[in-house]
Amino acid sequence: MEKAQEKRYTRREVTENKDLDKVLVILHDNVYNVHPFLNEHPGGEEILLDHKGTDGSEDFDDVGHSHDAIDLMKKYQVGRLVDSERRNKQPKKGWVAKYNSKEPEKYVQGPGMPFYLLVGGIVFAVAFFFYQF
Ligand code: HEM
Repeated sequence: MEKAQEKRYTRREVTENKDLDKVLVILHDNVYNVHPFLNEHPGGEEILLDHKGTDGSEDFDDVGHSHDAIDLMKKYQVGRLVDSERRNKQPKKGWVAKYNSKEPEKYVQGPGMPFYLLVGGIVFAVAFFFYQF
């Protein structure tokens, strides 16, 4: 039997869906039925209903959903877009990209605080050394 996540939708099918027990939303080329999640969504049901039948990828990213949210999404995925309609656009957040594709992480983080402290320390030590002479 075909797995639910493998069902292919066209964007039109998602927009025109009339099933009362389905609130379909496209997020990064995957299709989700958030109907059973309406009451549980921490961001409220209103915003999910506003995005019914649309591609909510950008708005979804703008909110900055957590890792927990990304994990939870899998539960509501009912399919994916047909290949010709996929945008294959990298989500704005690195961790979404990692979750959504098999591609290596493209969003490399800058150096962290310890690095800057080290550089600051070295600059200070050199300045101190020259100050002695
Ligand atoms: C299957 C789809 C979705 C899941 C599983 C989901 C899950 C969550 C979760 C768990 C949170 C709590 C905060 C966090 O852990 O990130 C959240 C908050 C939120 N979500 Fe979603 N969400 C989904 C779709 C959407 C969509 C399509 C939108 C449209 C913009 C949206 C807008 C929001 C907003 C505005 C908040 C509140 C953020 C805040 O209060 O700071 N969500 N969502």
